[in-house]
Amino acid sequence: MKSDSQKTFHVKSFGCQMNVYDGERMAEMLGAEGYAPAAEGADADLVVLNTCHIREKAAEKVYSDIGRLKRADGSRPTIAVAGCVAQAEGAEIARRAPSVDVVVGPQAYHRLPDLIARAQRGEKAIDLDMPLESKFGALPKRAGGQRPTAFLTVQEGCDKFCTYCVVPYTRGAETSRPFADLIAEARALIAGGAREITLLGQNVNAWDGADERGRVIGLDGLIRALAAEDGLERIRYTTSHPNDMADGLIAAHGEVDKLMPFLHLPVQAGSDRILAAMNRSHSVESYLKVIERVRAARPDIAISGDFIVGFPGESEADFEATLDIVRATNYAMAYSFKYSRRPGTPAASMDGQIDEAVMNDRLQRLQALLNEQQQAFNERTVGRTTRLLLERKGKHDGQLIGKSPWLQSVHVTAPGLAIGDMVDVRVTSAGPNSLGAEPLMEEVA
Ligand code: 5AD
Ligand code: SF4
Repeated sequence: MKSDSQKTFHVKSFGCQMNVYDGERMAEMLGAEGYAPAAEGADADLVVLNTCHIREKAAEKVYSDIGRLKRADGSRPTIAVAGCVAQAEGAEIARRAPSVDVVVGPQAYHRLPDLIARAQRGEKAIDLDMPLESKFGALPKRAGGQRPTAFLTVQEGCDKFCTYCVVPYTRGAETSRPFADLIAEARALIAGGAREITLLGQNVNAWDGADERGRVIGLDGLIRALAAEDGLERIRYTTSHPNDMADGLIAAHGEVDKLMPFLHLPVQAGSDRILAAMNRSHSVESYLKVIERVRAARPDIAISGDFIVGFPGESEADFEATLDIVRATNYAMAYSFKYSRRPGTPAASMDGQIDEAVMNDRLQRLQALLNEQQQAFNERTVGRTTRLLLERKGKHDGQLIGKSPWLQSVHVTAPGLAIGDMVDVRVTSAGPNSLGAEPLMEEVA
C-alpha cells in the first residue's frame, strides 16, 4: 500500500524478454528503496523507460514516450532511460530530450538508486559502465511475483557479431551467470508461485557453468538440475543459436519431461551467401541438420524462428531461398522483420541496401507463408488432449487463457479453475493465433 508521502515509480519495458526481466528486477529494487508502483507513467514520481535498440522503430519509440510524460500542469516525473538505447546513444539522449535525468545501460542498472539521487541534486546522471562484477550480486533477492510463469536470465551478451545486430555492443560480451545463483533464484521464484520458468539469454544455449560438484555443464545440465526442483512444472529457454545446439541439449528434449517441446531457433535467412554476409557462421544445411536431430529426439517439438528480409545484397533468388528454408523447416510460429540499418554495425555500411518497397513485398510474402504454417500447426493440435498452465483471464466470463506445451494460447472455460492451475483439456478449435479447448473433467463418484 502506498502512503501519501511515499514516492511512486513506473517501469515500462520495450523489446525482448530480457528487458522484461530487467524491468522486474528494477521494480523490485525500487520497491526495496521505498518506492510504490504507480499504474500510469505520468502520475509517477519516477519513470524508467527500459528501451530496445534492435531496430530503428523500436529505438525511436523512446522519444515519443518521453514527450508524453508531461503532465497537464506542465510538470513531469523524474525520467530515467535504461536498456539498450541508453547504452547505444548515451549522453546523446539527454541532449535530444533535455527532460531526461538519468541514462543507465543494461549492465549498470543496479546503481539506479544512486543515479536517481544524483539527478535529484540537479545532475544529469549517466552510467554506461559494463563492470566486470555483475549487477546481479548487487540486486535485492527475488521475491517471486505470484505469477505462474517467470523469466530467469541465465546468460547475457553475445560474441557472435552478426553483422546487422547491435546486441554485442549494447549488452556486451557473452557471460553466463553461476549455477548456484541460478538455482537459488529459481527456488525463490518457485516459492513465490512460479510453475514455469523460461531461461533467458541472447545466446542462452551457450550457457555454461560448474554444478555443485564442480563438474562443467552446459544448458542441458542446468535444465536437468532445475527439473529436479519440486513445484516447478515446466522449463523453457530462449533464444538459441544453431551452432550452440549441443548434443546434450538435443538429447534433453527427448529425456526431460519438464522441458517443453518448443524450440526458438532463428535462422534469419535461407541463402548461404546472405548467411555468410550476416556472419551467422552456420549454413542452410547445418541448420536443417540441427532441426532434423531435434525432431528425432522429440518428434512433436514446435519450431519457431526469426527472419530478416532485405539484408544488404539480398537478391530475389536469395529471398526465395528463405521461402525454401521455411518450407523445409515447417514452423509452428515465427517472427519476421525488415532489415533495419543500425548505426555502428558492419551491415549498415554494406553496398546493396534494399529498397523499402522491395522489403515490404518480401516481408508480406514471407509472412503469408509463415501464417499458413502457423495455422496448419494449430489445426493439427485440434482433437488432441494436452495440459495447460493457466496464465490469465480471457475476455468472457469464466474464461481463462493458458499455454499449451507448444506455447500456443488456449482459451478454456470451466468453473472452479484459477490462474496458476494446470488443467487437462481436449483442443476443440484452432485460429491463427489461439486455440479453444474444453477441460477433461474427471468423473466425480
Ligand atoms: N534489422 C532487422 N531485424 C533485426 N534483428 C536483429 N537485428 C536486426 C536488424 N538490424 C532481428 C533478428 C533477431 C531478432 C531478435 O531481431 O531476427 O533474431
Ligand atoms: Fe545478435 Fe547474432 Fe548475437 Fe543473435 S547471435 S544477439 S542476432 S549478434
